[in-house]
Amino acid sequence: MKTINRQSGKSTPAADWANKDSLELIEHIIKRYHDYLRRELPRISHLFQEVAEGRLEQPPEFLKLKEIYESFRTAIEEHREKEEQVFYPLCHRLEANGNKISGEGDDVQGWTDELMQEHGEVEDALAWMSDLTHCFKAPADASDSLRELLAGLAALKRDTHEHIYVENEVLFPKVILLG
Ligand SMILES: [Fe+2]
Ligand SMILES: [Fe+2]
Repeated sequence: MKTINRQSGKSTPAADWANKDSLELIEHIIKRYHDYLRRELPRISHLFQEVAEGRLEQPPEFLKLKEIYESFRTAIEEHREKEEQVFYPLCHRLEANGNKISGEGDDVQGWTDELMQEHGEVEDALAWMSDLTHCFKAPADASDSLRELLAGLAALKRDTHEHIYVENEVLFPKVILLG
């Protein structure tokens, strides 16, 4: 599988990530995916507000989309904090000491199972938003804000899918080996 490095515009083979150690990979994930979420989630929330303010009546699909997005945002922000505050520091300690000294490796499988379950839940929410909007297609009479909102959601879905792939398929197996 290949993914796109958005800064260089070039494809990054998954094998390149496989050659990085878990600390390099975590640094890459934070800069590339978590910082994107820190910038993008508030911007999309703001666009929802702009679209709502520009309409006299809110169609039920729009209200449903907003509701799903808000619970998605809460879930992925809590998930990101859990990774940054608890799971990644655990990976750092395991990379430094191994399980021999700390004994913490026993928890790794439990942590990765929990994080993978949360990944499934956020992917479900994104798929639901995609279904509700016919793959984020803007109606012919859509305002600029609505077009920007739908494009933002489509990009968020692609980016989150790539983010989850890197964690599930590259980082977690590497960290399980450390434990
Ligand atoms: Fe993450
Ligand atoms: Fe994650």
